[in-house]
Amino acid sequence: MANPTTGEALSSVGDWLAHLGDIEKVAAELTLAHWLGVERTRIIGFPDTLVPACLHPQILTWAKALRQGVPLAYLTGQHGFWDMTLEVDTSVLVPRPETELLVEETLQIVRHSPSSDRARKLLDLGTGSGAIAIALSRELPTWQVTGVDNQADSLTLAKRNAASFNAPIRFVLSDWFSQLDDQWNIILGNPPYIAPDDPHLPGLQAEPRHALVADEEGLADIRHIAQTAPSFLQPGGWLMLEHGYDQGAQVRALFVGNGFEDVASIMDLGGHERVTRGRFGHE
Ligand SMILES: C[S@@+](CC[C@H](N)C(=O)[O-])C[C@H]1O[C@@H](n2cnc3c(N)ncnc32)[C@H](O)[C@@H]1O
Repeated sequence: MANPTTGEALSSVGDWLAHLGDIEKVAAELTLAHWLGVERTRIIGFPDTLVPACLHPQILTWAKALRQGVPLAYLTGQHGFWDMTLEVDTSVLVPRPETELLVEETLQIVRHSPSSDRARKLLDLGTGSGAIAIALSRELPTWQVTGVDNQADSLTLAKRNAASFNAPIRFVLSDWFSQLDDQWNIILGNPPYIAPDDPHLPGLQAEPRHALVADEEGLADIRHIAQTAPSFLQPGGWLMLEHGYDQGAQVRALFVGNGFEDVASIMDLGGHERVTRGRFGHE
């Protein structure tokens, strides 16, 4: 097998995958696909594809970072969510596919709500890259959308993402509700919910801890939001939160204990309770 170095003119994808044999195969395929500007399926299907020598250093650097657990999105600086490609950096969580459930469920609730002439308002708590807020602002163009985060650099990125999609979102730097003074029809969010001693955390060390970890076995932020949200909801408004795959029963209990009705959890595609929603009072 050829040992590709920057001194060589060209080597093939097959050579690279063999050369990077100690590196997780998917990571190597993704790295090659990005730098060659093709789909990963092409990398797998056409091992004779040539890799220009000028790309060799970048490919090695990226493959090493991916092996160390850095998400590809942090290397490319972008990630797909809903129908968008968003800018991401290490100040924010890489938006997860299961979080699209919050968007889907919100659209369900809106479609089944009695029509109203009043202004409708939606609040995204812990907006990060702005993924949820921007997706919903585009799906619900007549709604006023607010996104909140307590990290100034996350909000800077979220504002850039919103601007690139012309999404008219108000972003507020706030520790959950502390800087807010309004009432919303829907409050939702994907707060940190991983326990400080969760065994999965070491595998997520490239992502910001403030986006992932919460005290009280991961439930501290969810508890605070469930307790505080009723004062910030319009009568009949909904609270909807993403949570850990095994936290559904505890989150439902927190919702019920704080006066929410019609409390239910929704399963993700993996069959885990992933989002819990509840209504506060009546319109
Ligand atoms: C799990 S990430 C979710 C990011 C984004 N909404 C998503 O789903 O991809 C949690 C977000 O909550 C924010 N956050 C954590 N504690 C907060 C607090 N006390 N007040 C406001 N935002 C907070 C973090 O900065 C982070 O952006």
